[in-house]
Amino acid sequence: MYKIVSIPGDGIGPEVVAGAVDVLRHLSKKHGFEIVIEEHPFGGASYDLHGSMLTDETLAACKECDAVLLGAVGGPKWENLPHEHKPEAALLKIRRELGLFANLRPAKVYDALIDASSLKADVVRGTDFIVFRELTGGIYFGEPRGYDEGKGWNTMVYEKHEVERIARLAFEAAQKRGSKKVMSIDKANVLEVSQFWRNEVHRVHRDFGDIELGDMYVDNAAMQIVRNPKQFDVIVTGNLFGDILSDIAGMITGSLGMLPSASIGRIHAMYEPIHGSAPDIAGKNIANPIATIASVAMMFEHSFCMPEMSAQIHEAIEAALAEGMRTADIAAPGEKTVSTTEMTAAIIRHLGA
Ligand code: NAD
Ligand code: IPM
Ligand code: MN
Repeated sequence: MYKIVSIPGDGIGPEVVAGAVDVLRHLSKKHGFEIVIEEHPFGGASYDLHGSMLTDETLAACKECDAVLLGAVGGPKWENLPHEHKPEAALLKIRRELGLFANLRPAKVYDALIDASSLKADVVRGTDFIVFRELTGGIYFGEPRGYDEGKGWNTMVYEKHEVERIARLAFEAAQKRGSKKVMSIDKANVLEVSQFWRNEVHRVHRDFGDIELGDMYVDNAAMQIVRNPKQFDVIVTGNLFGDILSDIAGMITGSLGMLPSASIGRIHAMYEPIHGSAPDIAGKNIANPIATIASVAMMFEHSFCMPEMSAQIHEAIEAALAEGMRTADIAAPGEKTVSTTEMTAAIIRHLGA
């Protein structure tokens, strides 16, 4: 029996999480394994209900379950709250409290969607890389931080153990994937913290003689990802650079609505699409649920050791795309579009009864 906590959150969060929960329930019924899914409020939705973005109950539930499924948080309604009370601060808190130091963000192009990318077909076809984004350190968490009338400040800091554990995971992943290549991305030409990052990654690399390690400055990396994404296999980088580079990767696959992620630590794990709450399309049943459904595939792989369920989800997504199902974000101009619930239903149909 697996216990999953779902925290739909704000904006399109509840819409895409509903689709992913339907997929989970379908697979559990079809294959006869038991899952319990418990929903908890989080983010703006929780603030409106309980006056707190992250209640003790929600946090405790996340610590007690086998995996957390998160939609997205944030939106205009809460963006003028004091910084430490914003929904985004609650997301950082939950990641930190659960010890989710590694955020795995795979960017894989589906053949059926090659024309949905804003880049040329030849550039994107065959792209398949994964970003290992450090998630509980760096400038997102460094002290001191703040602003007053005259200035604003943040601190980018990495400790040895923080670089070591994410680098080790990235090298291990490269060993399992075919190409055995890791690219570490930093800004070591300007930032001391990045020079430290680079030194530590190279120190850890000594244990992985079969892996080819490269270094790239983040500005060049942003350009190289759109110039020739196929050169990358495993990327390892810090919190802020990983956030930005993975949104760029989103457009290679056609839409931000396609990219799943797994946030993992030593004990807990949380699965979340990389996109946000998309307030511009919330409540319209038009958001793409694939990123969240593919995050469930990552849950089966990383938390439940059921890679065959993960493969089935990917095949069903591919089949739905191949038969022409397109939410608005991945449709060509003039092409017929389907809703969030229709896309979810098509994926479930392809999973088979
Ligand atoms: P966003 O990712 O929400 O949206 C960016 C653009 O992509 C929008 O045009 C949106 O409509 C589109 N988009 C995103 N997901 C989509 C999907 N599944 N289907 C179709 N289109 C999709 O980024 P933003 O607008 O900068 O941020 C909105 C809010 O979300 C902010 O409050 C931000 O802080 C928050 N946010 C939360 C998370 C998270 O919870 N993990 C991640 C990113 C942003
Ligand atoms: C993401 C988001 C978050 C981040 C925000 C909402 C805190 O952009 O998950 O990519 O920057 O990590
Ligand atoms: Mn982001």
